[in-house]
Amino acid sequence: MLVVATTFTACAFESDLRSDSTVFAPKSPPSFDMALPIPPLADSEVIDGVRVFSLTAEEGMSEFVDGVMTTTWGFNGDYLGPTLRAQRGEDVAVEVSNHLAETTTVHWHGMHLPAAMDGGPHQPIEAGGNWRPQWRIDQPAATLWYHPHPHGETEEHVIRGLAGMFILDDERSGALGLPSQYGVDDVPVIVQDKRLRSDGEFALDSEGNEIGLLGNMVLVNGAWGAMLDVTTELVRLRILNGSSARTYDFARDDRRDFALVATDGGLLERPVTTDHVRLSPGERAEIVVAMQPGTETMLRSLPPDLGDVAEPFAFGGNSEFDVMLLRAADVLEPSAPLAEQFAEIERFAESDADNTRTFEVQNREINGQRMDMDRIDEVMQVGSTELWNVTNRDLFPHNWHVHDVQFQVLDIDGKAPPEELRGWKDTIYLEPRRRYRIMMRFEDYVDDENPYMIHCHLLLHEDEGLMSQFVVSDDRPSRNSGMGGSGDGHGH
Ligand code: C2O
Ligand code: CU
Repeated sequence: MLVVATTFTACAFESDLRSDSTVFAPKSPPSFDMALPIPPLADSEVIDGVRVFSLTAEEGMSEFVDGVMTTTWGFNGDYLGPTLRAQRGEDVAVEVSNHLAETTTVHWHGMHLPAAMDGGPHQPIEAGGNWRPQWRIDQPAATLWYHPHPHGETEEHVIRGLAGMFILDDERSGALGLPSQYGVDDVPVIVQDKRLRSDGEFALDSEGNEIGLLGNMVLVNGAWGAMLDVTTELVRLRILNGSSARTYDFARDDRRDFALVATDGGLLERPVTTDHVRLSPGERAEIVVAMQPGTETMLRSLPPDLGDVAEPFAFGGNSEFDVMLLRAADVLEPSAPLAEQFAEIERFAESDADNTRTFEVQNREINGQRMDMDRIDEVMQVGSTELWNVTNRDLFPHNWHVHDVQFQVLDIDGKAPPEELRGWKDTIYLEPRRRYRIMMRFEDYVDDENPYMIHCHLLLHEDEGLMSQFVVSDDRPSRNSGMGGSGDGHGH
């Protein structure tokens, strides 16, 4: 008999189940023989002690599938953008020009910086306009990224291709002997699932899917079916889930272990041996993969554990597919063994909390309210440490992203977090009905006018209002919304 179950074998996406003739249906899985494109390192010039980069958002054309042309957006090119790189302690500036026909913004995801430089919805760059944020890099080495954040339009701008990496280095990260030759043994891996319409253009409509658009092709650095030639014993992959809705569970097809060395905000205390790592939209993981000469290994995505969601198949929970092939040369250059100790992470304890807040995420609301550009929801006192209780009240995926700070996960339903959530994080997946207790400290940049954002990084949800605004102030902590938490002081 004909078995429907074939839909869930190696290259299955549940979205293939739809028989929509307006959607381009990939005929065969890619052959993984195209060299992985490496985003160029951005040029910069040091002027009066400031390292200055330039980014121009522009429209172009890309050929993701042979013979199919797609209109795309990119920074300094057709699709995606160059990798910005800077050292802790440096002053950086970015001259951003918008050559698109509409307003956009550029947000520095994971960066600790003044709110006016953050590039959120309050720093619009009009068509034809420019913006020049400047700040000092003042945080540990990490794999950060940049992308637009115009209110209500973020999903579209990111799907069209506006995104890039921002790598930070520091003295410690440079002295650990980790693979660090950019594009050789230290490789950016920007993973995004896409759907094309039959006319070759990006599908932008999530067609009623609660979490947004799930693609049926997975691009890495803009290539579908890419292969990385590995020339060293160890290769470090800086994986960014740059997708708008899909959560992945990255693993090797042979299920061998690899080392997780860093998460969103930087290096872990020590390498963690694992055979898979789950990443929801916006999250990063740096992994180090050991290769044997003359062998291949496929980076693939296993069906991700989405927690207690109502319909895993509708949210990508049953999808399993290949992402990128790693092919080792017959002779590999030796790599230094991984250090046993990486970063020193000062652990927050519950007793450090100066203030507690509760955030309930439901549908497109945080604590019963949708995003309002004119309303400040929370006031954080500069220098204070906070403990937040965050719960996803829905039976579908959400995640949780906080601007300006990196946080620590104290516990999940009272239990210690898994290893991959023990380092610095700026984005975490929220399994339904679990209470995530997270802690962070607000430092340095007081600004009562310009807010930072807190939001779900499933971009459809963000666009539809699952976002709130906070300022860092000299004032005592307070909140403007109606619910829970012992930190509720005066309103506004
Ligand atoms: Cu990656 Cu508020 O964003
Ligand atoms: Cu959400």
